[in-house]
Amino acid sequence: MATASQRVRLIIGATLVAGIAAALLVRSRPPWRAPERGAVSAGGKPLSAQVREFEGSYPETAEPTGVVRDVALEAGPVTLPLLDGQPLDVWAYNGQVPGPTIRVRLGERLRVTFTNRLARPTTVHWHGVRLPNAMDGVPGVTQPAVPPGGTFVYEFAPKDAGTFWFHPHLRSSEQVERGLYGVLVVEDAAPLPYSRDVVWVLDDWRIREGAIDPRFNTPHDLMHDGRWGNVITVNGRIDERLTVRPGERIRLRLLNAANGRVFAPDFSGLDARVIAVDGLYTAKPLDPAGFELAPGNRIDLDITIPPSGAGRQLSVVDRFTRRPNVLASIDVSQGAAVQSPAFPSPAAAHVPPWRDTAAIAPRLEYRLAARRGGEFGIEWTLNGAAARHAHDTEASAADGHGHEVSVLPWREWSKLRFVNDSGRLHPIHLHGMFFKVLSRDGRPADEPFFRDTVLVHARETVDVGLVPLDEGRWMLHCHILEHAEAGMMSLLDVKSM
Ligand code: C2O
Ligand code: CU
Repeated sequence: MATASQRVRLIIGATLVAGIAAALLVRSRPPWRAPERGAVSAGGKPLSAQVREFEGSYPETAEPTGVVRDVALEAGPVTLPLLDGQPLDVWAYNGQVPGPTIRVRLGERLRVTFTNRLARPTTVHWHGVRLPNAMDGVPGVTQPAVPPGGTFVYEFAPKDAGTFWFHPHLRSSEQVERGLYGVLVVEDAAPLPYSRDVVWVLDDWRIREGAIDPRFNTPHDLMHDGRWGNVITVNGRIDERLTVRPGERIRLRLLNAANGRVFAPDFSGLDARVIAVDGLYTAKPLDPAGFELAPGNRIDLDITIPPSGAGRQLSVVDRFTRRPNVLASIDVSQGAAVQSPAFPSPAAAHVPPWRDTAAIAPRLEYRLAARRGGEFGIEWTLNGAAARHAHDTEASAADGHGHEVSVLPWREWSKLRFVNDSGRLHPIHLHGMFFKVLSRDGRPADEPFFRDTVLVHARETVDVGLVPLDEGRWMLHCHILEHAEAGMMSLLDVKSM
């Protein structure tokens, strides 16, 4: 059987020529740069102070290199030795869990030919990636669901370097839980010389009698923080070990692919620094202590193993709940230290301060709550509306399933407010844009980074600020997949006004 990396073929010949031709046809757009102070936006309105502060945060597009990466991706059922090594029936991309890590370089185009070998319709959503709206993988909104046996070609040029992921956006509470997820790494145009670049996908599984518990969206899951499993894995294994040499400098990319579980990974004992959150570099290197990795979130860590560390073994422990969970271990081999690659931390992004924004009214406010009713007996609502669940038929998935639509002005600053009227957790995720947390319960929270997913705690109010650069119809939803399916989904129309 071909390995994933063999499937990730770089087609140099005809495709490269076609890619260059395509690149020449792309309207050349200047990188995002706000005009001078006092200048006006495309709509003729003066630019707000917040848009001026946003200048230089991240580019409108990446400079195309002309290279096209062709990837064949297939979803289907398979039996794999996972967790403790016993065979487990799962649904997987390219026969592996996690699915293949797809790597592209910034400026390259990615063309994924997807085939659905499941008995159910599905789609592939590219979480966190700014891409053309039609490639976003939301059934009934950006595309019809891919039926069993069907194919769909996802093609886009990522605009941001960083750690992203892909997963189904239809019956995700079952499809993601059964193993359908993979990481998309967009490398910098000139990748940094880390000793190694490692991906850790965190997940949990609810196992009953040696199989994935087939009861999905139970009343218990819906009333609480979604489906929390009884087995925690990193890269599909309960005993993941990373063996390194003393002196190595590692880029460790963490993704939380669980349906509902939040992780707070403890890296103490290692000199680890967060350098990226949800893909984008942070403004400065950050201490990972206490960082809550909610479903959908990613963090990238910069870790230098001390040259004196030979023979040490370090456990990385999740401390989100009162009961600590060992996630994985980092084993430092015996022997001579390697020379640590020396380069300045890439965590030096421009992140707008957006400090004096407390008095600005939110453009949109969402109240997060639950009520009885709906298909599962409990509905999760945004402002009293529950989006209808996407059913397993193409016809009902294609009708837009009753989402509310709000408008966000393109390239203008907006504040969004999330008011959690419930006692549960809600990691709120926006497709197609990054935002910055401004405050929690009215207290300024100057996070030196952007996010695409923010954990809203019980009864908490979170304000975020954003400047959307990509037009289209984007989802806003809770990333606790059971909550989303029970209604906690909405749409944002980003358009020039
Ligand atoms: Cu990772 Cu709409 O989701
Ligand atoms: Cu939720």
